[in-house]
Formats: sequence, C-alpha cells, structure tokens
Amino acid sequence: MTRFTTAIGADPDQAAAWLLKGNCVAVPTETVYGLAANALDPAAVVRIFEIKNRPAFDPLIVHVTGLEQAQGYAEEIPAPLRSLAEYFWPGPLTILVSKGSNIPDLVTSGLPRVALRAPAHPLAQALLHALPFPLAAPSANPFGYISPTTAKHVFDQLQGKIPYILDGGPCRVGVESTIVGFENGQTTVYRLGGLAIEKIEAHIGPVQVQLNQSSNPAAPGMLKSHYAPRKPMILLEKTPWPDEKRRIGLLTLRRRTDLPEHALQIVLSETGDLAEAAQNLFAALRTLDQADIDLIVAESLPEEGLGRAINDRLRRAAAQE
Ligand code: TXA
Ligand code: MG
Repeated sequence: MTRFTTAIGADPDQAAAWLLKGNCVAVPTETVYGLAANALDPAAVVRIFEIKNRPAFDPLIVHVTGLEQAQGYAEEIPAPLRSLAEYFWPGPLTILVSKGSNIPDLVTSGLPRVALRAPAHPLAQALLHALPFPLAAPSANPFGYISPTTAKHVFDQLQGKIPYILDGGPCRVGVESTIVGFENGQTTVYRLGGLAIEKIEAHIGPVQVQLNQSSNPAAPGMLKSHYAPRKPMILLEKTPWPDEKRRIGLLTLRRRTDLPEHALQIVLSETGDLAEAAQNLFAALRTLDQADIDLIVAESLPEEGLGRAINDRLRRAAAQE
C-alpha cells in the first residue's frame, strides 16, 4: 500500500485534487467521517477496501449532491424513497435502489441495489459539487472499529494510509445514516441511524424494520459485531453497579450519583437529550477504550428517537462474534 504524509485541512479543492488522481481522502459528513474515492473507478474503490481492511462482501454507500445526481445512478427510484429523499436530503438518509449499470459491481459487492445518500455537511457538498463523479465512502475507520466523528479520530487510525483529511469539525449527528429500501411493496428500514424512524413514518406512514443481525458474510449489510471497542464491553438494561472485580468504565445517558467513589463514568448528555447523546456516542466509546479500565459497561437508552440507533450501536459493540 502507498504510504502518505497525511495532511489535515479544510480545503475542498485539495481533497478534490487527490480524488481526481484516483486517491482516497477522508471527508466530513454530518453523520460520521467517510473514506471517499471516485465511485465510478474500480481501481480507486479497491483502495478503500484495502485501507479499511474491509471484506469485499460489504458494499459501499455512494454519495451524491442530491436527488438529481442520484437519478443518474439508479435504474428506478420507488415513489416512497423518492419522497423521503426529496424531504430529508441532504441529510442522514441512505436509500437502497436498483443500481444503474454505470456503478461498478465492486461498489455494491455484486448486489443488485446501490445505496445512495446526499450528505448535508457543507464541506461534503462543496467537494461533491467540485467533482465530476459521485463518491463511494464507508465510515473512515478500520473495519469493525468505532466510526470516527472528528478529523483526529481519522488521523489516529489512518495516518500514513491517506494523503488528506478534510476537516469539517465534529460531526453534528454522530451516528451513521438510516438505510431505507423498498421491498415487496413495503418501505423497509435496514439500518437504524441518524434519521429517526418516527420522522420517516410521520412523512410516509408505517415502515417495516428489518435489521440484519447476521454475522454471515452471505448476508451483507449489518454485521453483528461492529462499532466495537478493543476492550470487553457489556450492555445492561438499567445497571445496578455490576459486582465486578475488573475496573469498570460506565457509559451512561445522564450523570449517575449512586456510583462508588472513583468510578469512571462518561455522560452522553447531562440533560438526557438523545440527539446530543448520539453526537457524543462514538467519541465516548473511544475515550473508554483508551481509559485505564478493564471493562466497558454501557446502559441501554430509551427505545425512541435516536435512542434506537444508539442502542443498536451499543448492542453491536458489545457483541462478541
Ligand atoms: O452515515 C453514513 O452512512 C456514513 C457516511 C460516511 O455517509 N457511511 C457509512 O458507511 O456508514 P458504511 O460502509 O460504514 O456502512 C454502510 C452500510 C454497510 O453496512 C453496507 O453493508 C450497507 O450500508 N450497504 C451499502 N450498500 C449496500 C447495498 N448495495 N446493499 C445492501 N447493503 C448495502
Ligand atoms: Mg461503517
């Protein structure tokens, strides 16, 4: 793999220059940072898989400026997905649609559908507008690890492997996009994410939720063990402080006042706000992963709004397989 001196900056033109030469760069989005390459160039896309150490069976999201550009890469966009994209794009929504023949099979891992998303971050938009192609971009973390929500998170893990990190500050949403498709006449959510299901349903009515819990490579999409810290982690519905000899770091929504002295707790939102909790989630997991503790204990959050997406990430982070 080519070695680079990794620069961090806020200049979309510099990012564009590297991308035009077939390289990968890290790009801020409102959800998490992405590791981007020209989606129409298989040689560039291959580099994403190499840098991330990502298995080829796990397909990539293609990032576009908006619905108009998306239409050029889809055979057809079913009406409910079109309506969602019109309403929520640019934003934390990915639609799964029948792929146009101009999208390389490598991007979709040979699957018949392509995932399309228009990110809302102004630097991502500026970059996409400066380029003559859409950007394939998974989250900019080594496969299986916690997604990055700052340029520093990206640098800590991909330093030397990419030439440029476009720094757009900390991500406003903090969890990945919600992935939605249309199957057997039903709008279907495949990944819980930064767009809450309540908002989707308020716009188009009831949807089915079909989260793939499989760790079977034949079922791409959602691997069970994912977003995982290196330290052991357990998820508990409301915790009493666990009876543990190991040193514990607690991830909690609100500050707890019933803990033993010296207990380490990371608070996701002092006011219990779930959007703020999502914003802080991945940085908090990284902090705990680097802290002087042996075990991460997370409390599950209310199953509503972004709490559902957060709980999903926590479950996968705690999954052992
Ligand atoms: O918010 C996001 O979606 C971020 C930012 C960078 O846009 N991206 C992101 O990408 O989370 P990634 O690769 O970490 O997660 C994308 C998920 C994967 O689990 C993948 O399997 C699924 O989307 N996916 C992508 N294309 C697909 C396809 N054609 N069919 C089924 N699943 C697909
Ligand atoms: Mg990812």
